Amino acid sequence: MGILESLARSLAQSKSGIYTVRRKYQSDQVSAVYGRAFLSETEESLKKVSDEVVVCTKCRLCETRTKAVPGEGSSAARVIFVGEAPGEQEDLQGRPFVGAAGKLLTELLASVGLRRGDVFITNIVKCRPPKNRPPRKDETYACKPYLERQVSMIGPHVICPMGNSAIHSLLDSEKSVTELHGIPLEIGKVTYFPMYHPAAALYTAQLRRVLEEDFKKLRALLDSQAL
Ligand code: URA
Ligand code: SF4
Repeated sequence: MGILESLARSLAQSKSGIYTVRRKYQSDQVSAVYGRAFLSETEESLKKVSDEVVVCTKCRLCETRTKAVPGEGSSAARVIFVGEAPGEQEDLQGRPFVGAAGKLLTELLASVGLRRGDVFITNIVKCRPPKNRPPRKDETYACKPYLERQVSMIGPHVICPMGNSAIHSLLDSEKSVTELHGIPLEIGKVTYFPMYHPAAALYTAQLRRVLEEDFKKLRALLDSQAL
């Protein structure tokens, strides 16, 4: 290779190097700017809660969790679904309702024209209790402020506590899901709409039908509120 040719090559290489670096730098900058521009105030606040949850040590569940599960969905959601606690899959992935019960929840949402991204999905406690035991009172008490903040930031019209743990914690009632499911309960500006937990319906066809009916009632409730 002649000296001129080799000079031309190294110049071309360094040019393409500079070009690549510039491109990467620019696209990183743009996405950083967009990242800020596209996060609404509510999204920013929700992210702050999530950031706190993932490092939280306010109760003993932090000692056994793999990942905390803050919850996910739309910051403009009109409905919030609240389960009991993360299970095995949720604990591994850091996302709510991604196991078998989550698959059923996703299907039930779809059956009434809702996608997971349209609603907000979370739990009473954000870390998995060992062997999926029910959360204890002190754990629920320690964790509740996170849910309260999420609810007040999103400002939903409807909150669906799913299963007895969520019903007892959110409604401060000892009545069971059998008695309360499918009946809207207005408290202040929010309508509570208790439901069976999807996990309970996984192996009981009859409960699954009850849940499907309750989802239709929820749809009618949302439509009646023109949401
Ligand atoms: N069960 C729950 O209560 N919550 C989840 O996130 C998954 C299963
Ligand atoms: Fe914190 Fe809630 Fe997890 Fe307990 S369950 S460590 S209070 S995030």
